[in-house]
Amino acid sequence: MTATRRISRFSLNRRAFAGGSAALVATAPWLRASAQDATPAGDAEDQLEIFSWWTTGGEAAGLQQLFDAFSAQWPDVEIVNAAVAGGAGSNAQVALQTRLSGGEPPDSWQSHHGAELWSLYVEPGYTEPITALYESEGWADVFPQGLVDQLTFDGEQYLVPVGVHRGNVMFYNRQVIADNGLEVGDELTVDQYLEISAALGEAGIASLALGSQDTFAAPQLFENILLGHLGPEAYGGLWDGSTAWDDALVTEAIEQFGQMLDNVNDNHPSLTWDGAMDLVIDGTAAFTSMGDWAWGHAVSREAQDTIGWVAHPGTAAGFVAVMDGFTLPVGAPHPVNAENWLKTVGSAEAQAAFAPDKGAIPARTDADTSTFNEYMQWAAAGFSEAAVTVSNAHGAAASPQWRQSIFDATTLFLTDRDVATYQEELVFADEDAAAG
Ligand code: GAL
Repeated sequence: MTATRRISRFSLNRRAFAGGSAALVATAPWLRASAQDATPAGDAEDQLEIFSWWTTGGEAAGLQQLFDAFSAQWPDVEIVNAAVAGGAGSNAQVALQTRLSGGEPPDSWQSHHGAELWSLYVEPGYTEPITALYESEGWADVFPQGLVDQLTFDGEQYLVPVGVHRGNVMFYNRQVIADNGLEVGDELTVDQYLEISAALGEAGIASLALGSQDTFAAPQLFENILLGHLGPEAYGGLWDGSTAWDDALVTEAIEQFGQMLDNVNDNHPSLTWDGAMDLVIDGTAAFTSMGDWAWGHAVSREAQDTIGWVAHPGTAAGFVAVMDGFTLPVGAPHPVNAENWLKTVGSAEAQAAFAPDKGAIPARTDADTSTFNEYMQWAAAGFSEAAVTVSNAHGAAASPQWRQSIFDATTLFLTDRDVATYQEELVFADEDAAAG
């Protein structure tokens, strides 16, 4: 089996990823002395540079909570916020690769778990294992095992999870739905959604807001449709080779994707995900299918009462987990601060402060959630009750090359709407990934 295929072979419910990567990691010459071997000595240095893509209202507010938690303990350290805008890290990841390959890492950077963490950072040798920190902080006991599995390679941990997002949420404008005599219940089937969409179309209202300027937005919409149509098990199988991309169910999902795009905002190519959420908040469009960082965006606009939520049509049984965490670089410019940053973001207090602004739930199971609002209680219940699965749009499911091929095919589908060509491209992308 090739390395490329190997990184695709896992989901949150499987251990295959960590196990499958063992041979590769064990023989990798670039895995030098770990952070634990080179314990940083001395007092905290004067700066801490943190790299992320958190720049929108809720994202920046959540990040500030983490900064505040750090500053509360180390007030003399100047925090340099090196965030690069662009949903799902589209620009940040490119800029970061330039820095890493040039030997100029920040002190810590944001990453998803799974394939992204492995391919972009662990496998090239840019991150230190933080297994000793996991032990000293007792993190193995407080992060869900399924998450820990996805940041563990050859028995070593490489990421401190901060928050978990649900990627398959349909947010809607309550007033627009009510004003048109429509109703959204606790669950929404695809047929119900399409009926509502048709009614809104007749009333001249865009049913679905999309911000396809963010290259992840349409692939995320499509993966949510795939999850709804295939169910969590078969959807997970798309990423480990057990579900075929030329399956008739995939064809039907593509057709459904086309139907949902029939009543989308015309200006979607010039909007980002938060611009699309703004259309919903402002009542210009009714729904947007997005991860719950969009809830954080609504919070930042004080629009909580305007916005309703339900799992993306047909996906109530599944929870697409989009987890954010932070790494420890090889050669951090301020290693003491870097380690203190990780301890901070891994703490229950910082995670409880971060989550409400970011629209996430804490990655720690022991964080104080008693004051969480109704939305967050719903998201937390979904995480514990629904089948947890992976996102390709947010890096965890497939190698960066495979992910990009899917993004390219999806961009094409937005304009040509050719079902057969799209499916062929998806099949080719899978075959390429399998061939390595
Ligand atoms: C995801 C990330 C979230 C959110 C979103 C939009 O990839 O995990 O934290 O920021 O992108 O930028």
